[in-house]
Amino acid sequence: MDETENKTGPLVLLTGATGYVGSRLVPLLEQREVALRCLARSPDKLRPNVSASTEVVQGDVLDKTSLDAALAGVETAYYLVHLMASSTDFEENDREAAENFGAAAKQAGVKRIVYLGGLGDDTDPKLSPHLRSRHEVGEILRISGVETIEFRASVVVGAGSLSFDMIRSLTDRLPVMLCPRWLATPTQPIAVDDVLAYLLAALDLPPGESRIFEIGGTDIVTYGDLIREYVRQQELHRLLISVPVLTPYLSSLWLGLVTPATAEVGRHLIEGLKNPTIVRDKTALDVFDVRPVGTGEAIRRALKSGDSHSKAERT
Ligand SMILES: NC(=O)c1ccc[n+]([C@@H]2O[C@H](COP(=O)([O-])OP(=O)(O)OC[C@H]3O[C@@H](n4cnc5c(N)ncnc54)[C@H](OP(=O)(O)O)[C@@H]3O)[C@@H](O)[C@H]2O)c1
Repeated sequence: MDETENKTGPLVLLTGATGYVGSRLVPLLEQREVALRCLARSPDKLRPNVSASTEVVQGDVLDKTSLDAALAGVETAYYLVHLMASSTDFEENDREAAENFGAAAKQAGVKRIVYLGGLGDDTDPKLSPHLRSRHEVGEILRISGVETIEFRASVVVGAGSLSFDMIRSLTDRLPVMLCPRWLATPTQPIAVDDVLAYLLAALDLPPGESRIFEIGGTDIVTYGDLIREYVRQQELHRLLISVPVLTPYLSSLWLGLVTPATAEVGRHLIEGLKNPTIVRDKTALDVFDVRPVGTGEAIRRALKSGDSHSKAERT
């Protein structure tokens, strides 16, 4: 097919197409028998990265009217957006955005919303504001009355994924790492390719009730294990020293290693490191054919696919 031809097939709306996960989903959706429309706050930034047959519309999840046009005629809508970078009151903004999106999707007759959120135990009173907000967004989308498929993941391992890159930047640059208690927190990292496979497979689910799928790689590891495996594969020498609390000094050390643009998001992610993020409900393995890889392989793939840090940067 000529790339510039409009594709036929069910219309799919992708939000977050400029983001880490969304941008990797674009080419995969473009290979499917669907017509793809992407919503972007700055369409000009996105257009060079999509094929000519993909429609790009201007929109903002905080601007209700922009959503009506973006969702018109859409069958499946991917919600891959969070507002942690642009707002100090991200919880309120993410709430409002999800309400806008759910209501507009319902109004437009959208059949399914696919959302990627975070793992974590809802019943834990100490769940971080970030993880609590991710769960709340899923709940708001479900309440809209549109069938919602929510995937919950912990660290998505891939070059460019903020949560993975934070761990990596820190490990690359600090020969002696003072690490707080969360070094022992269990988590279940997942390779980005496996997340994308789940997101794509959600297109083919038969119509039904809203569902939550917890997804993760084959290993439950601690953040310490994750760092140690990265160290092993990069042939680094690092000393990890566990300290009881995350002092402002340690916090600033971490945050000084990420760019200012991502520091705000990083701050929220760090708060979540104290919460276990593991798969307790394994239903996703029964429902989908996706067979996620383990942490070692996920890291190997991430390093192979785009190691932006030169060897000289590491000591
Ligand atoms: N990366 C991970 O490790 C990880 C792990 C578990 C779950 N998740 C979940 O996966 C989803 C996607 O995460 P990500 O890592 O891909 O995020 P990301 O790279 O930070 O991208 C966020 C996206 O949201 C868009 N956005 C922000 N505010 C918006 C607004 N007001 N209106 C429209 N779009 C807006 C951004 O567009 P602009 O270009 O306009 O800023 C960007 O495309 C999130 O729900 C996240 O919680 C990610």
